[in-house]
Amino acid sequence: MDLSLHTPRHLLSLNDLSRAEALALIERAIELKRLLRAGIEHRVLAGRTLAMIFEKSSTRTRVSFEVGMAQLGGHALFLSPRDTQLGRGEPIEDSARVISRMVDVVMIRTFSQDTVERFAACSRVPVINGLTDRFHPCQLLADMQTYIEHRGSIQGRRVAWIGDGNNMCHSFINAARLFDFELRIACPEGFDPDPEVLEPARDRCIITRDPLEAAEDADLISTDVWASMGQEDEQAQRAAAFAPYQVTEAVMARAASDAVFMHCLPAHRGEEVAAPVIDGPHSVVWDEAENRLHAQKALLEFLLTSHS
Ligand code: CP
Ligand code: NVA
Repeated sequence: MDLSLHTPRHLLSLNDLSRAEALALIERAIELKRLLRAGIEHRVLAGRTLAMIFEKSSTRTRVSFEVGMAQLGGHALFLSPRDTQLGRGEPIEDSARVISRMVDVVMIRTFSQDTVERFAACSRVPVINGLTDRFHPCQLLADMQTYIEHRGSIQGRRVAWIGDGNNMCHSFINAARLFDFELRIACPEGFDPDPEVLEPARDRCIITRDPLEAAEDADLISTDVWASMGQEDEQAQRAAAFAPYQVTEAVMARAASDAVFMHCLPAHRGEEVAAPVIDGPHSVVWDEAENRLHAQKALLEFLLTSHS
């Protein structure tokens, strides 16, 4: 629990990090992964507690944050709106004031970006965005770690985003600025990323309707589900619009010969990605999922030990 009452650092989007901080975080994540594999304990957050507020489902985010806190010597608390007063209408600001007086860091997965921002504005402790409809910054930290581990620096590389202009696409746009790579977005008309997110990265991003054009010579190809959490009712309409946007072997064949394929998961084989791609030689999705653990441990350490 934070007794010093200074303004905490948050991670509400990747824009909260400088390039130097982001690169240092990833270097640290790689080091923490090495320590874990060597069996060396690193209990730097002993006695600290993370509150995890989940208003949407999760496998990777929940497991990686909870296990990460345990490995760092701390504790993680799972809070769902079903069992807390948040689900009965207690204002988010009041919840933030109360929870942040008892824990050391908060992770929130919710619908509106505004909710995490309002929580953070009233929180005494760091707040981490564990996915909103707008951004998924923790996933991008793991993705960048994965690329760097497999292929080295991503600066100046070409990345293709094929599919919905959604929260993951928005975070890839932010990452293009932060890590300095070119981003080619192929999405159907009507599913473009928000121009407000895109505008500051205009010099690095292009939008095309042609997945093969986006994939041309790409070093990394990534995609995501066609209907995100909260869009279940739109599944059929989206499936029709996105049908030409599946990442197939033909799409991968347009990319650089050593291109990697990423997907934040969960994936739908036969929809946004063909099974031979996600299960094939270019795919790094399991390393990507594992790196959620290492990247977020580095993030927790950064927020709680460098800034408190
Ligand atoms: N990629 C990701 O955030 O997975 P979960 O929804 O399982 O947490
Ligand atoms: N775009 C997806 C990502 C899930 C990790 C969603 O928001 O459901």
